[in-house]
Amino acid sequence: MEFAEVAARTEAVPHPHIPSERGRILYDHVREARPERVLELGTARGVSAAYIAAALEANGAGTLTTVDSTTFPWVDPTPEEVLGGLGLLHRVELDRTHSTYTWFLKERIEERSDQAGNCEPLYDLCFVDGGKSWTTDGLAVFLIEKLLRSGGWLLLDDLDWSFDDVAAKRAHYFTPIPLLSESERREPHIAAVFRLLVMQHPSFTDFRIQDEAWGWARKAPGEPRRLTIEAKRTFRSYLHTGLRRLARG
Ligand SMILES: C[S@@+](CC[C@H](N)C(=O)[O-])C[C@H]1O[C@@H](n2cnc3c(N)ncnc32)[C@H](O)[C@@H]1O
Repeated sequence: MEFAEVAARTEAVPHPHIPSERGRILYDHVREARPERVLELGTARGVSAAYIAAALEANGAGTLTTVDSTTFPWVDPTPEEVLGGLGLLHRVELDRTHSTYTWFLKERIEERSDQAGNCEPLYDLCFVDGGKSWTTDGLAVFLIEKLLRSGGWLLLDDLDWSFDDVAAKRAHYFTPIPLLSESERREPHIAAVFRLLVMQHPSFTDFRIQDEAWGWARKAPGEPRRLTIEAKRTFRSYLHTGLRRLARG
């Protein structure tokens, strides 16, 4: 499916969703990088999912898993209606089985980890457009890194957004705005996540900020560090010795 068709047919979908200029960037990236497995955190009514799924459809391969919370049911239209109306549902798995996507990520890591503690990565692209908080998204990027394949891309939306933008509201998703300190309200949380967590993480490289709002980072190509079962045993025995010492006082 062509980009212009998705843009025209999602134009009237109520917010929140990315604008069509960003939809274009997302669509073009998927066409060029040809990811097999894409993960999106923050579905809402499925507009950004539609851009990703349309590009996968044009590639003739690939699937998108898009995750949202059980707490915020999006209707009029639902994401199923948006994606189904475009004939793209077969490319998309919609997951709304947990209150938060960090728990979804925890379960994926658990099911893909071996006995020694190596997590087999799964995704080639992860687009994060969720709650925009340091607490949730700071943890999310740490978890995503484990699930991203070498050479895969992380894309964070909303580097320029702060809770001051919605200061009149009682809460923004899970964040109670009146409880935030002045600097927590004023400073954009996702910019801090990008600068202090993603850019300082040894696995990420090729950083790029686009339109002041999008932060790209690539998981470094090459073989990731592998733990052996011996390393885990050494750690266990170290832990036991430490605990025994602590118990002895
Ligand atoms: C800006 S909207 C997503 C817009 C969508 N990506 C688009 O462009 O069409 C943010 C979404 O994140 C979801 N969300 C916020 N915090 C979340 C969390 N901790 N876990 C799961 N979903 C969350 C909200 O329910 C909302 O649907």
